Amino acid sequence: MSWADVKRPIVCLAPMDGITNSPYRQIVRRINKEVILFSEFTSVDGFLRSELVRKRLKYEPCEHPFFIQLFGNSPENFANASKIIENFGISGVDINMGCPSKKIVNSQHGSALMKAPETACKIIDSIRNACSLEVSVKTRLGWKDEKNLIQFGKKLESAGASLITIHGRTYDQAFRGTSNWEPIYELKSNLSIPVIGNGDVQDYNHGIEKIGNLDGFMIGRAAIGNPWCFLNRKQYPEPTLNDRIEIALEHYLLFRRIKEEIVALREFRKYLGNYVSGFKNAKNWRVRLMECNDEKDFFDCLQKIKKIQPIITFAG
Ligand SMILES: Cc1cc2nc3c(=O)[nH]c(=O)nc-3n(C[C@H](O)[C@H](O)[C@H](O)COP(=O)(O)O)c2cc1C
Repeated sequence: MSWADVKRPIVCLAPMDGITNSPYRQIVRRINKEVILFSEFTSVDGFLRSELVRKRLKYEPCEHPFFIQLFGNSPENFANASKIIENFGISGVDINMGCPSKKIVNSQHGSALMKAPETACKIIDSIRNACSLEVSVKTRLGWKDEKNLIQFGKKLESAGASLITIHGRTYDQAFRGTSNWEPIYELKSNLSIPVIGNGDVQDYNHGIEKIGNLDGFMIGRAAIGNPWCFLNRKQYPEPTLNDRIEIALEHYLLFRRIKEEIVALREFRKYLGNYVSGFKNAKNWRVRLMECNDEKDFFDCLQKIKKIQPIITFAG
């Protein structure tokens, strides 16, 4: 796959740890055939060490175009992992240079690579030499501010990155405040490779409003339990309550293929906020679903919700 051939705007599901696992990616694909899917981030060192970590990256053919995101800081490990990943038949490798978590940054991974541009470039170069996969980078505006963004972006491009995604916040901000896309537009006008904007996009139509000179946008939090957010509202109707519950059920059943009942019920709670919303008493039903400790109860609840006639339109 070459980014040059991907239809514009490039619309992506953001990599999210604990969220964008294969079941959820399959659900997003079910609703939208074109959105670009990213895995949760995966430690490159763990990938090389553990069969279990490699197994977690299993995906279904329907997930294409699909990218695996890796974090780490050893160019050699990135090269060795990429050689193996190339045989998975995926579209490319994305390197995490934006995670602000203390644990990640203290190990000189994630956002720490913004402070170590030489290592960042060596990682890209080593993957490029090891395999023929596309290599992209997801990073932030900078450490404390955006003053090094253009210089950093140019270095990544020269090292062989074929696409860059920028989350419009700094490391210091983590998830606080609102994202700032102005420096992302400026970066794009200084690079030849595609640039994707990320941060606070609510849905496809909002992404189109924000896209400016960029090649695409990426949606994270607003997509959790809302796979319809990637659809153009001018072409597709809002999902009905029935649609939401049907897809939630389908999603849960995919989840159950890889998780045992009690774990699946617990982890599925993360998605319920959006699936079960926008109707009278939705909050009470969510609480009720979150209390379910067995599947029969969970399914009964979903069936009862389906019988509720939609009272209002959904926010999307
Ligand atoms: C629960 C959660 C997990 C995340 N995990 C990752 C990750 O594994 N890799 C990554 O690059 N970013 C990760 N992010 C950041 C998102 O990809 C995205 O950059 C951020 O949420 C901003 O976009 P949004 O405003 O559309 O959510 C995560 C965010 C959340 C909320």
